[in-house]
Amino acid sequence: MLRSQLDTIPMGDMKDVHPESAVRDLIKQAQRHGPIFQLPLPDGTRRIVLSSFALVDEVCNDQFFDKRVSVNVRSLRSAIGSGLFSADTSDSNWRKAHTILMPSFSLQAMRNYVPMMVDAAEQLMAKWEHLNPEDLINVPDDMTRVTLETIGLCGFSYHFHAITREQMHPFVEAMVHILSTTAARATRPPIEEKLRFRQRRQLQADLDLLLSTADQLVRERKMMGTEGQKYNDLLNAMLNGVDKQTGEKLDDVNIRNQIITFLIAGHETTSGLLSFATYFLLHHPDVLNRAYEEVDRVLGRDTRKTPTYEQIHQLVYIKQILKETLRLCPTAPMFNRYPYEERLLAGKYQLQPSDTITALTPMLHRDRSIWGDDAEIFNPDHHFNPEAEKQRPANAYKPFGTGQRACIGREFALQEATLVLGMMLQRFYPYTTGIYQLKIREALTIKPADFYMRVRPRTDID
Ligand code: HEM
Repeated sequence: MLRSQLDTIPMGDMKDVHPESAVRDLIKQAQRHGPIFQLPLPDGTRRIVLSSFALVDEVCNDQFFDKRVSVNVRSLRSAIGSGLFSADTSDSNWRKAHTILMPSFSLQAMRNYVPMMVDAAEQLMAKWEHLNPEDLINVPDDMTRVTLETIGLCGFSYHFHAITREQMHPFVEAMVHILSTTAARATRPPIEEKLRFRQRRQLQADLDLLLSTADQLVRERKMMGTEGQKYNDLLNAMLNGVDKQTGEKLDDVNIRNQIITFLIAGHETTSGLLSFATYFLLHHPDVLNRAYEEVDRVLGRDTRKTPTYEQIHQLVYIKQILKETLRLCPTAPMFNRYPYEERLLAGKYQLQPSDTITALTPMLHRDRSIWGDDAEIFNPDHHFNPEAEKQRPANAYKPFGTGQRACIGREFALQEATLVLGMMLQRFYPYTTGIYQLKIREALTIKPADFYMRVRPRTDID
């Protein structure tokens, strides 16, 4: 095909994209420019933003496309080192870590995590049981506490005491600073960066905190000697796992990077999922009632018996609620790809290996050709009952990314979130007073901002 016969990709407006609202800004531009548009990146290459199923479907093909580690994640990587999430697929450490850590996410591993997940969820329930009727719950804050405690226990057999401590654990504050600072840094010229002395000092202090947390986990485990090897957790897989293909283990620096990666990736997005799901439940009484009906049928009303693995997986409507939540509010709202070679997209758009092709998930998940005219409506039953799931094309729903670089923790996240939501509804009536207009806070992931609720124990009412 002659170059003159190719379609030009519409140009978006870079000045309308700001680090603190990048996702919402890209959505606005997609609504203005359509399912494909481009933006210049600071290094002279292009970002091409895709919103429709037809276009995203093509770039999900692992044979011709790979994950592009975005400018923001490269900036994060230069600060916290290369882990499973931030490594290039060609980095030999990615394949090694992927192979070594995959068994920690098997079905058997999920079953083994249940007691630890229940431990963390029980702590949150106990905290809420001790509230006065008028006390407000900061929803994203408490969901962050429970998900950090969960990954601490399941991944590292470590109690962060994230739920019981008064202030949020310092790891979370340091992590949020690092995510926002490295994202903003990715948009500035290096010379400007050098002049920001105070910010650089703060970044170093935050990094030191993350590194010392990782080092403490390793030190304490090694001090246990052979006794420590009995733990069936991620940390032991990192320290002792062997890549069967090469016979290699992870080196010390890589282990440190993986610990930080899993502490961040293992709680931040699930916390957003639980917060958005609670928001949707509070605003859809019909869905909430059906969820109560299922929880009472599956878990019963006796809270002294904690949920089993089988019961968690019988909460199918709760899982549908979570999946529908991730459709409308995917907490990791984009993933990036590039073609191995020059390639035509949809037979008419020329793509280059230097391009960063962004699949904008909140728009993909609203494509009416897949989701119908009620794509904007929260409806767990419509899209995610088992029959509808089988009919839907695989690449129409991508909250966990795609192909070999898709999320390693997706079953972990869904199991944990189902348990927390199930236990919340078994014990409480959540409610809000006044009207809450959904606001979003962005820092690599998205979460509701300033979202509060109250809970009443069900025993007070039933
Ligand atoms: C990768 C989403 C929970 C660990 C990803 C990716 C997405 C994602 C979209 C692909 C990113 C890309 O292509 O650049 C989510 C969501 C979660 C969640 C929405 C919760 C609702 C978790 C949990 C863990 C985890 C609980 C660990 C326990 C990872 C890791 C990767 C990853 C290590 C990188 C995998 C690789 O490239 O090999 N996640 N995630 N995630 N996620 Fe998750």
